[in-house]
Amino acid sequence: HRSLQTGPVNRSQTPDFAFAFDIDGVLLRSSNPLPHARQALTLLQRLRIPFILLTNGGGRHERDRVAELSRLLSIQISPSMFVQSHTPFADLIDQTDQHDKTKMPLKDKTVLVCGGDGDDCRQVAESYGFTSVVTPADIITSTPTLWPFTSPQSYTTHARPLPHPIYNPSSTSPTHLTISSIFVFADPRDWALDTQLIIDILLSQRGVLGTTRSHSVPTQDHSASNVPLYFSNPDLHWASQYHIPRLGQGGFKAAFMGVWKETHRGIPLEGKTIGKPSQETYAFAEKRLVKHRRELLGTPKGETVGLRKVYMVGDNPLSDIQGGNTYLSPLGSVWNTILVRTGVYNDREIPPHKPTVTVDGVWDAVKWALEREG
Ligand code: G3P
Ligand code: MG
Repeated sequence: HRSLQTGPVNRSQTPDFAFAFDIDGVLLRSSNPLPHARQALTLLQRLRIPFILLTNGGGRHERDRVAELSRLLSIQISPSMFVQSHTPFADLIDQTDQHDKTKMPLKDKTVLVCGGDGDDCRQVAESYGFTSVVTPADIITSTPTLWPFTSPQSYTTHARPLPHPIYNPSSTSPTHLTISSIFVFADPRDWALDTQLIIDILLSQRGVLGTTRSHSVPTQDHSASNVPLYFSNPDLHWASQYHIPRLGQGGFKAAFMGVWKETHRGIPLEGKTIGKPSQETYAFAEKRLVKHRRELLGTPKGETVGLRKVYMVGDNPLSDIQGGNTYLSPLGSVWNTILVRTGVYNDREIPPHKPTVTVDGVWDAVKWALEREG
């Protein structure tokens, strides 16, 4: 096809359509590139067609993940071309709590960040601008009795001292650890410990860990509302190296919600789940696509850059296809969805959300789209 020919490319042109590629099950299986993944991205780069990588994965800094993806896929990916599950959390740092008279921004309050390996997610949160990040490792190291079934020794390497002591009935401290928001950045490694911690905070007196609603303890957090809980990825399953899809962060959320259902005592759960298929994540991804097209066109900041169509290539009908099908673009771009057979989806089932087309793999997806674009 013309667009697949190897002839000279008009450098000044960048088409008004773009691609958003899911990663796990489309480009990679764990760290192994899928067939023709490199060729598909290289072709788009040569044709100056904008694309981003849009994953519900996470747990490491965008800069580190992008370096690894560039190496694995033998193509130069920039951080602006990459959106992972928690990337949109960076937009929350200046948020203020309507109940908090001090109007202190979230970045200056203490937040709990769960998930991922070691201290990675804390460091990612700090790179977003959060200034007081506490992790389960800090808490269990300071108070091992909080969850008697975990060996605190396995957490001490990455633990930091808490900014304030945890409340207990014999506490004489004038200040206590107060958590303003809870973020699940990636899959928790100890579902039980993280579940216990999150439940403790949600059932506490306005985020003061170690209290219950019946305590009357002065808190550093001036918000009267409940502590919001943010998940970053609803995926119940994902396509890892194992031949059968594995439970993802959505599995942890399902387990947590089972415990919450039995323990919440009528307290409302606040917060949200971002990640695909959420509108927030697709809107964030679309802004990145427009930014990438602007860079390719060399359009100055003041001028508007449009986007007519986006091809969302994914392996998971519940995140990639549902999200692409239901996203309502404020820019008016039309999203088509292309389901591939190299990940979570297999032909033995009817996908719960109907894609525009189903193809074998990412190279077929790019060819199909380019042929439609003529
Ligand atoms: O944890 C990763 C998994 O949820 C799926 O990632 O790249 O298929 O959106 P991805
Ligand atoms: Mg996937």
